[in-house]
Amino acid sequence: MRKPVMAGNWKMYKTPAETLAFFEKFRPLAGNAAHCEVVICPPFTNLFAAVEAAKGTAIRIGAQNIGWAKEGAFTGEVSGSMIQATGATHALVGHSERRQYFAESDETVLKRSQAALEIGLTPIVCVGERLDEREGGRTESVLTQQFQNGIAGLTEQQFARIVIAYEPVWAIGTGKTATPEIAADAHRVIRGLVRAKFGKGAGDAIRILYGGSVKPDNVKSLMAQPEIDGVLVGGASLDPAGFASIVNF
Ligand code: 13P
Repeated sequence: MRKPVMAGNWKMYKTPAETLAFFEKFRPLAGNAAHCEVVICPPFTNLFAAVEAAKGTAIRIGAQNIGWAKEGAFTGEVSGSMIQATGATHALVGHSERRQYFAESDETVLKRSQAALEIGLTPIVCVGERLDEREGGRTESVLTQQFQNGIAGLTEQQFARIVIAYEPVWAIGTGKTATPEIAADAHRVIRGLVRAKFGKGAGDAIRILYGGSVKPDNVKSLMAQPEIDGVLVGGASLDPAGFASIVNF
């Protein structure tokens, strides 16, 4: 059985003080959830505060990006070892906002994923089509391209340690959640790609999260799909009670 991953992506929200205030409320509500893994990804500047605030709970902390180099002249980047030194265990890679605004490509997604794995962090690798691509009937080919040019370049051993998040760009921050059936269809496409490249065992084991306007009132129907192994939540992960009710769907 695939253990669900309920992850929050705070994007560019919250200061360290706001992070502590969040955890004060969130810890008693979801700090010891055993039915799933809980991962919260705050901005880099809050990683230390979040790790401290999550101590003694099952909550894991992740970064929202990761530099592919070990160190060097890469202004604005943060390396895997720096992230790991904060006590964080995960890193988002290839979020559509990185692809859209910061020129992230499938090639850099692969490099960042490799950097995370090399240092022992779990990459949560995001894929997903834009609205024009879906309306043009290109969803499957876009997902295939993102897979083949990106994480298909990992070794089998590396691949066994990643998590994938399917986030259709048209559903992010728009309130337009993919229906559970649409999401499950896309997950089946991705799982099929994994099977073809890495074998049946890898396809059965890979956890594929859904992201895009997940809220307390739609999480249950999404999680009822056997294809959906968890969620990656943006806006609704900023509120401790709301995110706790998502975690405890
Ligand atoms: P929203 O939940 O705000 O739509 O964001 C989804 C997302 O991008 C999570 O990474």
